[in-house]
Amino acid sequence: MKVLGVIGSARKLGNCEVLVKEALFQTQTLGAEIRVIRLPDFHLLPCKGCLACVLKGEPCRLDDDMHELWEHLQWADSIILSAPTYFLGPSGIIKLFIDRLFEYSFQLGSVKRRPGAIIATAGLQEWDPFTLPMLSMLAGILQLDLVDRFIAYRPGPGEVLLDEVTMTRTRKIGKALVNHINQPDLARKIPVPENTCPQCGTPFVQLRQGNQVECLLCQAQGHLQITKKTASIKWETQKGKDRWSPEAMAEHFSEWVLRTGPVYQKYREEIQSLIQKYRTLPITESNRNK
Ligand SMILES: Cc1cc2nc3c(=O)[nH]c(=O)nc-3n(C[C@H](O)[C@H](O)[C@H](O)COP(=O)(O)O)c2cc1C
Repeated sequence: MKVLGVIGSARKLGNCEVLVKEALFQTQTLGAEIRVIRLPDFHLLPCKGCLACVLKGEPCRLDDDMHELWEHLQWADSIILSAPTYFLGPSGIIKLFIDRLFEYSFQLGSVKRRPGAIIATAGLQEWDPFTLPMLSMLAGILQLDLVDRFIAYRPGPGEVLLDEVTMTRTRKIGKALVNHINQPDLARKIPVPENTCPQCGTPFVQLRQGNQVECLLCQAQGHLQITKKTASIKWETQKGKDRWSPEAMAEHFSEWVLRTGPVYQKYREEIQSLIQKYRTLPITESNRNK
């Protein structure tokens, strides 16, 4: 029984670190082997968009620690994701990490589902709209079945220790993760705030045809219901569309991404001649590279 904590904050003994470790201590008390990693401590380069990983099935050419991170992810039976809110969303390393998971696109669809949790931090409410949605996207990609997902609001490093409600909720996460590892079929009761997608908990929805509503993140479907006084969404109760399901992931990568390769090859020469004009304006290099 192995539980991994992934921290997206560089702040040593900051709120993310305290909360992830509190949940991990709880799992350890219940017999789990624990490990915690801090993403900013790893050398992680931004994806270059060469697509060799998907189109040619080659290992990523970037020389950094992504493979080591992937091994940590594979080691775990359960994963806790944590990040601070920076400018309304999770710290940038989270998106960088998500982008680099592209290399594992074909494996992600067949990764075994594991229990997981999201424990995010922020300074103040209403300054965090993208934090849980982005972390939920990461959880979806990693095929995590969440037992809880929340944001702890405390600005100072470690200040969250003064918040007993949050500390108690965090310990409960540790307990729930162990329960779910031991009993994979246990029903999950994750709190879903009002007017958010019941599948991924995000508030980002789009009105489609007629009164049809779709969650922009996971593509769950619902219907807008309007009465004289209220507007609400009735979500489809049976498991509907899910962008991150193994089937949908496999379809996207093999049906769409793989097909972009031959299409590009077909027009490659034409693009090469049209692109000449843009070679004449050089990109200004960073002083560090000069
Ligand atoms: C660069 C920066 C940007 C921040 N932006 C936000 C923000 O947009 N919304 C918010 O609620 N808190 C913001 N905060 C506060 C942090 O989210 C908060 O201090 C959090 O507890 C940090 O977690 P940590 O101690 O694990 O790093 C920001 C902090 C920093 C350093």
